[in-house]
Parts: sequence; structure tokens; C-alpha cells
Amino acid sequence: MKTLNQKNIIGILVSLIGTLLFFAINGCFVSKKVAAKSGVQLWAENCQRCHNMPSPATFSPDQWEIVGMHMQTRAQLTDKEREKIVEFLKQ
Ligand code: HEC
Repeated sequence: MKTLNQKNIIGILVSLIGTLLFFAINGCFVSKKVAAKSGVQLWAENCQRCHNMPSPATFSPDQWEIVGMHMQTRAQLTDKEREKIVEFLKQ
């Protein structure tokens, strides 16, 4: 009985560690994916869901900062994603 219990505990520990490792590795992949995306990509993927894609020439750099802040909440972007898109649109 005693050895069985110990085996059970080891089994639980191993699966716990496995689950933690899975999430840790998964988390890395997700952040790498976002980091790999360029401003153009993020702009193309996020800014045409509700209206036509705004051309970079439509607004001045200062105006893009403000549009970026408004559309970040609309498009539910992270700060990083907004920065990249605004950086691209300002060019
Ligand atoms: C969830 C829907 C949604 C998404 C996603 C979205 N927008 Fe918008 N956008 C709107 C709505 C609604 C308006 C019009 C109302 C307003 O101006 O507040 C608007 C207006 C605008 C305007 C002003 C247009 C004008 O002629 O005055 C610009 C520029 C703009 N969006 C850029 C963007 C950019 C850049 C992105 C990507 C980061 C984006 N939008 C993503 C909903 C969205």
C-alpha cells in the first residue's frame, strides 16, 4: 500500500510538471509569434475588420498617434501591436 501511494504521488507530480512545461513552452511560442509580426502585417490583419484599411498617407504622424489610441481599444490590440502599427502608418 505504501509503495502504491508513493507511486501515485510521483505520478501526480510528473503530470503537474508536464502541464506546467506545456504552458511555459506554449507561452513562449505565442509571444514569439506576436513579436515576429511586422507593423504592416498587424495593420492588414486588424484594421480592415470594421472598415477599409486606412492608407498611411491619410493622416499626419501626430494624427496617427491619436487614431492608434482610439483603434487600440476597438481592435483590442496590445500596446506592442499598437506601437508597431502606428510606427508603420507614420512612415
Ligand atoms: C472593432 C472595429 C474596428 C477596428 C478593428 C478598427 N476600427 Fe477604425 N474605426 C472603427 C469605427 C466604428 C470608426 C468610426 C467611428 C470613429 O471614428 O470613432 C473607425 C474610424 C477609424 C478612422 C477614422 C476614419 C476617418 O476618416 O475619420 C481611422 C483612421 C481608423 N479607424 C483606423 C483604424 C486602424 C489603423 C485600425 C487598426 C489598428 C482600426 N481602425 C481598426 C472601428 C474599428
